[in-house]
Amino acid sequence: MTSPLPVLSGMRPTGKLHLGNYWGALVPWIKLQNSGEHRCFFMVADLHALTTGYEDTKDLQQNIHDMVLDWLAAGIDPEKSTLFVQSQIPEHSELSLILSMITPLGWLERIPTYKEQLREISGREIATHGFLGYPVLQAADILMYKARAVPVGEDQLSHLELTQEIARRFNRLYGDIFPEPKALLGLAPRVPGLDGRKMSKSYGNAVELSDTPEVLWPKIQRMFTDPAKLRANDPGHPEGCVVYALHKIYNAEASVREQECRDGRIGCVACKKHLLSLMEPLKDIQERRAQLAQNPARVREILDEGTRRARSVAQQTLAEVQTALHLRPLHP
Ligand code: TRP
Ligand code: SF4
Repeated sequence: MTSPLPVLSGMRPTGKLHLGNYWGALVPWIKLQNSGEHRCFFMVADLHALTTGYEDTKDLQQNIHDMVLDWLAAGIDPEKSTLFVQSQIPEHSELSLILSMITPLGWLERIPTYKEQLREISGREIATHGFLGYPVLQAADILMYKARAVPVGEDQLSHLELTQEIARRFNRLYGDIFPEPKALLGLAPRVPGLDGRKMSKSYGNAVELSDTPEVLWPKIQRMFTDPAKLRANDPGHPEGCVVYALHKIYNAEASVREQECRDGRIGCVACKKHLLSLMEPLKDIQERRAQLAQNPARVREILDEGTRRARSVAQQTLAEVQTALHLRPLHP
């Protein structure tokens, strides 16, 4: 038997997760975990959260707890996967510093997420050293576990490419230590927010995993639909309709709905009510979450145990790196 390929992915601790996080990240993680072909490391990227959120850190522990509750409730299994907190493994910071030595500024400055966020985040000073170095820290996360595969969203592709470049440069300078990680894309459907833009907490257009039907229904009512479809028997255009985008995820017969909409055989209100009932399985996750929430010490334990396991891998990799760079005194 070949040994399982290491997989690493991470999420910034933003608190409770929304459906975009769930379908875009958690579901692919759970599939990899359950495939049995991978050794999965799932990381709480709390240091990455500091790069843009360094001013106000008071909710960090609560956000980590809330996010990990969602991971566990959704099906991340600490028996199968290693869950850990980035900042609790100081080797991440050290490897990041070492990698920063061999990373030209130009590589970082041309990364699209960097330029975009500099433009978009206003009112906060984010033109910091740490923010520019965000993808170097991410490269350290990935290379630390010699991950072969990294499930990410499309927005992270440039960070993966940078990681590959850093790995190549490192190996050329100091010897073959890091295998090149591949991005695993396309495992996830796109979940638009209520208004049709990308689902995001900061846009206020998110459906949270923990939304009960009472909270969910008014949100479904607000969802952007075909503005030209005024009456139930007007023909509609499901493309661009947020309700339909969710039908594609939750309704095994979405193509039937698509045709009914086009033919003017269903109205938006009925279509929305149907969606509400299709999303009932969220209840299972919520029930598991409520149960887990009663035992916060257990969540702490899971993270501590995962962090211990991950750290022993990290220490081993860092030792190899230090040896390769002659940062370790030779034994007599
Ligand atoms: N930058 C990622 C995001 O915002 C989070 C992250 C941090 C990550 N380190 C990682 C993802 C390593 C994959 C691998 O989504
Ligand atoms: Fe969207 Fe359904 Fe209305 Fe068609 S019928 S526009 S799919 S909500």
